[in-house]
Amino acid sequence: MIRLFNRFTLACITTLLAATSHATTWVKADALLDVVSGKLINNPIVEIDGDKFVAVHTSPPTPAEEDEWVDLSGMTLLPGLMDMHVHITGSHAEHGYRRLQATSGHAAILGTVNLNTTLQAGFTTIRNLGAPDYIDIDLAKAVDEGLIPGPRMFASGPSLGITGGHCDNNLLPKALNVPADGVADGPWAVRTKVRENIKYGAKVIKFCATGGVLSKGTKVGVQQYTLEEMQALVDEAHRRGLIVAAHAHGTEGIKAAIEAGVDSVEHASFLDAEAIKMAKKRGTYFSMDIYVTEFILSEGEAAGILPESLEKERQTGQRQRKSFSDAVAAGVKMVFGTDAAVYPHGDNAKQFARMVRFGMTELQAIQAATINAATLLKMQDQLGSVASGKQADLIAVAGNPLENISLLEQVGFVMKDGTIYKQPEQ
Ligand code: ARG
Repeated sequence: MIRLFNRFTLACITTLLAATSHATTWVKADALLDVVSGKLINNPIVEIDGDKFVAVHTSPPTPAEEDEWVDLSGMTLLPGLMDMHVHITGSHAEHGYRRLQATSGHAAILGTVNLNTTLQAGFTTIRNLGAPDYIDIDLAKAVDEGLIPGPRMFASGPSLGITGGHCDNNLLPKALNVPADGVADGPWAVRTKVRENIKYGAKVIKFCATGGVLSKGTKVGVQQYTLEEMQALVDEAHRRGLIVAAHAHGTEGIKAAIEAGVDSVEHASFLDAEAIKMAKKRGTYFSMDIYVTEFILSEGEAAGILPESLEKERQTGQRQRKSFSDAVAAGVKMVFGTDAAVYPHGDNAKQFARMVRFGMTELQAIQAATINAATLLKMQDQLGSVASGKQADLIAVAGNPLENISLLEQVGFVMKDGTIYKQPEQ
């Protein structure tokens, strides 16, 4: 009964919203950053019809009386931000053995809350790389259906990995062990797992090519899947039209993943000149989470991160930042990926300032989180910039982010698919 009532209420609200929304919305601001040309357009008026951008005007248009006007004077408009590596069902307060208490229901509730937090921070698109029980896929559906507010989500479902690897669950002894959902060993088992993930709605395939920082008993620099397994996995995913993201810290694992043809290497911590050269040649994207080390080393212990993981982080974080500088200098394609959940959801934009500190221009950092991310997802015709016909995902900050990138940590206006989710206080 209660459930029915809630559903009914939601349906009413949805109908009400649809009935009161205007066909055309005009958003006026001091400037708009065209992330493709890198130019600021002064005094833009963005025209939005339904869920799409129609045009950017620079001379005052003639709106109809029933149109909606949004005045963001003093602010700069940008396309909605995109984070290519999050774990929306996880919490920064639940690391190490605390994770074992997380039921699927708990993870779904966390995910619902985290989606809203992430959207309010200006991220209108996210890629979720790994969740148990296909919970991220259920959440993505709930967002698409308008049941809950959140960024549109490209979800992977369970990450694939070897027995005992970074993507397995290694916290318990054998008698109590429950392997993680994505464990598969051998080329055919890996293909089967890819097929299973696609069957249950995955839009991207994530796998662990090397050990990791936060997993128990894995060596961060050591390759896990063989090249043969990675090739089978990528072949299976690509044939079905899905992109592939490889978790890889260690040099050999990074190279094997690139050789196998992955679309993005996550973390990419221990790069050498050859790995950088290979990525440039193949057009592989790097998604380097260079903010999170600060959270792990300052607050990780209190959050339950294992001592061995803290030690691994001490060996990885600074080296990853050096690799980031090298990759930027060499011109490798980069997307913005943060590993949110390890640190608090909603703090995603803190990484921008680090990307600038370690070698990017402000514009490059913003491009990584907009047009580059859209291109990685093969969605550049629909997402990633403010252009006619694209989905109306728009944010605003008070000032010029090309002069002060930290402004992105305080997004004052958020629109996704033409619907406003956040407005500056009047
Ligand atoms: N999920 C990653 C892992 O456990 C987090 C790595 C964080 N550290 C870093 N320096 N990026 O391996």
